[in-house]
Amino acid sequence: MAETAHTRRVFSGVQPTGNLTLGNYLGAVKRFVEMQKEDCETIYCMVDLHAVTASWPGREAIKDATRELAAAFIACGLDPAKSILFNQSQVASTTQLAWVFNCTARLGWMNRMTQFKDKAGKNAEAASVGLYTYPVLMAADILVYHATHVPVGEDQRQHLELTRDIAIKFNNDYDAPGFFPVTEPIIEGAATRVMSLRDGTKKMSKSDPSDMSRINLTDDADTIAKKIRKAKTDPEPLPETLEGLEDRPEARNLVNIYAGLAEISPEAVIAEHGGSQFGSFKPALAELAVEKLGHISAEMTKLMADKAEIDRILGDGADRAAAIADPILEKTYDIMGFLRSR
Ligand code: AMP
Ligand code: TRP
Repeated sequence: MAETAHTRRVFSGVQPTGNLTLGNYLGAVKRFVEMQKEDCETIYCMVDLHAVTASWPGREAIKDATRELAAAFIACGLDPAKSILFNQSQVASTTQLAWVFNCTARLGWMNRMTQFKDKAGKNAEAASVGLYTYPVLMAADILVYHATHVPVGEDQRQHLELTRDIAIKFNNDYDAPGFFPVTEPIIEGAATRVMSLRDGTKKMSKSDPSDMSRINLTDDADTIAKKIRKAKTDPEPLPETLEGLEDRPEARNLVNIYAGLAEISPEAVIAEHGGSQFGSFKPALAELAVEKLGHISAEMTKLMADKAEIDRILGDGADRAAAIADPILEKTYDIMGFLRSR
C-alpha cells in the first residue's frame, strides 16, 4: 500500500452542498489544516456521492460545488502536496466496500441514526434508500483507507460510533482480528457545535433559509462584520464566570466562536471580556473574525478562475487515494473468500 510512512492516518469528508459556514470551519476544516502539520497522513474528501442522497443538484451544479469545496479547502490552508484531496466518486473501491458493510450493519443499528430521522422528516417513506444507508457509505469512506483518526463536528459522533461497530463486527464475523481499525473520532475545541446567529438553540447550517443565521466562508469582510453586529443576543452583559452562560445560548455561542477563532478556551474569553456589553464584545469578535476569515473569499475566487487546475489536483488526489484503497478492498474480498480469477 502506498503512503504509509506515518503512524496516524487521518480521513474526513465534507459534502459539496453549497458554501462552507463558520461551523464547518471551526468544527472541521480548521482541524484538518492543523493535522497536516502533525505526524499524520491526511486524506480529505469531497463526498459527492453523499451529496445526492437528499436530492440531485444537477449535472453542472454538482461539478461546480465540488470544485468550490476544493477551492475552500485550499484557501483555508490545505496543501495538495501534503494532503490527499479528492472527490469520492472518483474512487470506486469506496462504494464496493459500502456494499459489504450494508451486509454487516444491522437494521436495528441503522434505525437508531438520529440524522436520518432529522433529514427524512415526517415523510420517511419518501426518503431515498441512499439517505438511509448514508452512514454505511461514510464508514466505507473511512475504513477503505484503514483511517485511524477522523476529525469532525459534534453532529457526526453517532456516525463514527456506527463506523466503529461495523469495523468490530466485520473483524469478528470474518475472523480477521484487527483488519479494520477501530477509528478514533477527533471532536475537539471550543466550537464543535457552532449555533445559528439568529437562534442559539439551532445548529449553524448551510441549508438554513436565513443567510443572516450563518457566516459563509465566501462572505467578504463587511458582510462578516454586519452579520456579527446583527447577531441575536440578550440584554445582559457577558457574565464573569462560564456558569453564567448556562441559560444564555446566544451569548454562549458568541463566546465559543470567539474562543475557536482566537484558539483560546472559553474561560479565557470570559476572563478577558466578562462584564462587557455586547456593544463592545461584538466589534471585538467581528474584528477577530475578519482577521481570520477575511482573506478566504478572495483566495477562493482566485482559485476558481482556474477550474482545470482544480480538476487536476482532484484527479491526482484520486489516483493517490485509489492506490491506498484498492488493495484494502481486494484484501477485504480475499478475507470474505470471493473467487478472484482475473
Ligand atoms: P457537512 O457540511 O454536513 O458535510 O459537514 C462537514 C463537517 O462540518 C462535519 O465534520 C460536521 O460535523 C462539521 N459541521 C457542520 N456544521 C457544523 C456546526 N454548526 N458546528 C460545528 N461543526 C459543524
Ligand atoms: N457525513 C459527514 C457530514 O455530513 C460527511 C462525511 C462523509 C464524512 N463521509 C465522511 C465525514 C467520512 C468524516 C468521514 O458532515
